[in-house]
Amino acid sequence: MTRPRVAILISGRGSNMMSLIEAAAAPDFPAEIAVVISNRPDAHGLARAQAANIPTRMVDHKAHADRASFDTALHAVLVEEQIDLVCLAGFMRLLTGPFVENWRGRMINIHPALLPSFKGLHTHERALAEGVRIHGCTVHFVTPEMDVGPILMQAAVPVLDTDTPDTLGARVLAQEHVIYPAALRLVVERRAMLREGRVVIDEFMLAPPALVVPPAG
Ligand code: GRF
Repeated sequence: MTRPRVAILISGRGSNMMSLIEAAAAPDFPAEIAVVISNRPDAHGLARAQAANIPTRMVDHKAHADRASFDTALHAVLVEEQIDLVCLAGFMRLLTGPFVENWRGRMINIHPALLPSFKGLHTHERALAEGVRIHGCTVHFVTPEMDVGPILMQAAVPVLDTDTPDTLGARVLAQEHVIYPAALRLVVERRAMLREGRVVIDEFMLAPPALVVPPAG
């Protein structure tokens, strides 16, 4: 049986991309990573995807006059590659409303904070500045407003008094690599579905949607 075809969109180092590629390499994973698409020619993740034998495509945002024309080109590549589902993994471009609408319920993102707290950038610095005791990451469906879409899965980590943005970010990133493949699996297996703007999860087959992870050591 053919597995649904997933495109991963990246702009940088691609560690979440690799967690998806590695998970999908398991014979029982219900989806195939069909292509990795970058908007930046220098994205380190491109070489990592190629080393893992995943086809890559480039849609350079600098070659497009505006967001609409970039999104049209990106959509064309997704259609050409016969993509069923899109995973944003460190993809640093805002997408236009029409593009997002085209992929509603079929496009997910990972964000390095417990949404709805700390939308946007520099989440670890801001979490430390606010003095929160718990921080984490979120996988959510993408909607036109940034970092707002229905939440699929979250993982929480403790914030330690000794943390710097880097140590906290590393603790969060380790959990991103756990929940992103798990959330993708939920969506592909249709155990998580969008209903009236919220995610409904099939409780009978459920892996825990929220994990609280103790500090290592
Ligand atoms: C991750 O922290 C992800 O949550 C955020 O951007 C970062 C990308 O890192 N959206 P990587 O490219 O997956 O290593």
